[in-house]
Amino acid sequence: MSSTITLQDKEFVPFISEQEITEKIKTLATQLAKDYDGKKPLFIAILNGSFMFAAALFKELAIEAEISFIKLASYKGTKSTGHVITAIGLDTDITDRHVIILEDIIDTGKTLHSFLPQLYNQHPASLKIAVLLDKPEPRKFDVPVHYVCFTIPNKFVLGFGLDFDGFGRNIKEIYKLKEDE
Ligand code: IMP
Ligand code: MG
Repeated sequence: MSSTITLQDKEFVPFISEQEITEKIKTLATQLAKDYDGKKPLFIAILNGSFMFAAALFKELAIEAEISFIKLASYKGTKSTGHVITAIGLDTDITDRHVIILEDIIDTGKTLHSFLPQLYNQHPASLKIAVLLDKPEPRKFDVPVHYVCFTIPNKFVLGFGLDFDGFGRNIKEIYKLKEDE
């Protein structure tokens, strides 16, 4: 792993190696293949952050499965409920399907917490969440996380699809903010 990376005056240091990521993703793919064999599950990956995790996981998956990608947009609601999260690009009917959401990281849980009811409304046969990184410490909204590759402390991370101000997604490993150490 290369050493420090600087992005917009912030220093990032190596945190999780490419090999560790690959191994965890393979283990998760094996587990999912076991749990969903014969169920033809539908994976829904949430862009942008999860594109690399989704690709790495999906190519290791040895069962029949579909994958679709959505973007979540947050709007200021007209009602007092505040922000409304809407899916852009959910073009597959999820009724009676076994759905697995793929997310890069869960932090406060706000995004998924506000979005999940829309999916439950369509009555999937089952709905589970798989994440590359789980940061439980800053959690403010309850989200059921069923599959986790890495549980990490409350540090800002980037790489393997995760960004800092749009950059750093192409880094093969996961780095963490140095001043957070
Ligand atoms: P939540 O709604 O607070 O759970 O935030 C989830 C989203 O925030 C993730 O999908 C990421 O896009 C972003 N995010 C949270 N923590 C980090 C981080 O440490 N690095 C990069 N992006 C993050
Ligand atoms: Mg994300």
